[in-house]
Amino acid sequence: MRVKLKDIEFSSPILTASGTYGYGHEVRDMADVNQWGGIITKSVTRHPREGNPPPRIAETRSGMINSIGLANLGVEKYCNEIIPSLNELQTKVIINIAGSAMKDYLETMEMLESKNGKHVGYEINISCPNVKEGGIEFGVNCEMTEQLTIEMRKRTDKLLIMKLSPNVTRIEDIAQAAESGGADAVSAINTVVGMAIDVKTRRPKLNTAFGGLSGPAIKPIAIANVHKVFKAVNIPIIGIGGIATAKDVVEFLLAGATMVQIGTMNYQNPNLGIQLKGELSEYYSQNEIEKTEDLIGKVEYHSN
Ligand code: DHB
Repeated sequence: MRVKLKDIEFSSPILTASGTYGYGHEVRDMADVNQWGGIITKSVTRHPREGNPPPRIAETRSGMINSIGLANLGVEKYCNEIIPSLNELQTKVIINIAGSAMKDYLETMEMLESKNGKHVGYEINISCPNVKEGGIEFGVNCEMTEQLTIEMRKRTDKLLIMKLSPNVTRIEDIAQAAESGGADAVSAINTVVGMAIDVKTRRPKLNTAFGGLSGPAIKPIAIANVHKVFKAVNIPIIGIGGIATAKDVVEFLLAGATMVQIGTMNYQNPNLGIQLKGELSEYYSQNEIEKTEDLIGKVEYHSN
């Protein structure tokens, strides 16, 4: 089950997706958090954010839509109040950063770097669909993605992962921009723009009308995007989108992912990633697979 990203070894290829597992300690009574390969925390921004007005989450068929609006404490409080508890975790921690202007992202990273936390890396959210100033401007533009990656790379030797949006014409171009900027890996995909309407009230189910769709409903979209990225870059990919079973994990690995993240299904079962580690290990034994690398990108096309 062990996998490496750059020089960092993870005990399992299964991580929590940002925004779906708090900062790890919230679920302490329900799950042995340290059994995950790693925890990716909810986006932190330069300044505190209240987020969008409610309702900001709604269940949909095989998924959910949300428009949280990057609610968080801001990096100053994060350094003082969150980093100490992250430091107590025995699993690997990756801090997700969001921003609007380049300056915000860089200052946030500089402040986190100065804290000497135990975290092993950063995942950079350039793909929040819910706030105009949520970084999506970067995530849909190759030059801006490359420039941001270059500047962040200058400021950290820790893992640098750029999180890609599916809401673009060619995700592979954005992935290449992240690679040439010096990213160690990319994660794909963030949520897909969605909307749901209550037919009785005729109001959108989210206050902001549009939101980010996640969960099993988006898995085929995620698989397609991971595979497109796999064909375009040489850096590892962390696959995200609707994982609910060990077979889903295998599907992401075959499409080209080196690791995966579980998000929406955590709300149903905060132990899912831990259970799937066991099931994946069984699948490997039953199918004579020695290690995760033997599956990465090994999808076999039809030969016509
Ligand atoms: C939010 C951010 C995201 O990146 C996402 O995919 C969904 C929601 C948010 O905080 O609104």
